[in-house]
Amino acid sequence: MRPLKPLPHALVLLCNRQRPPGAAKPSCGFHGADALRGWLKQRLKEEGLWGQAVRVSPVDCLDICPKAGVVIGLDGGRRLLLVDAEADREALLEELRALARPDAG
Ligand code: FES
Repeated sequence: MRPLKPLPHALVLLCNRQRPPGAAKPSCGFHGADALRGWLKQRLKEEGLWGQAVRVSPVDCLDICPKAGVVIGLDGGRRLLLVDAEADREALLEELRALARPDAG
């Protein structure tokens, strides 16, 4: 094992788990997770922030598994958000802009 250079951008985790039909737990992936990630990627690219300052990476599960919505992990998953993929996406984008420009606030 050896240490690597830190990531040059903020890493945001987005749960897109899709369990098989009949599974006991719900899945964020059935509540617009992939569409939300695509929308965020497009908007952040338009602003020159994607990959340079922030990246949204899909993850399998953050062990919250809400009945509705998508779980987002900020600060390496230490700060979790439950978002509605449509209704909350602008507010989430604003959170990501703040992560991308930590000195702007
Ligand atoms: S399925 Fe999204 S947190 Fe578990």
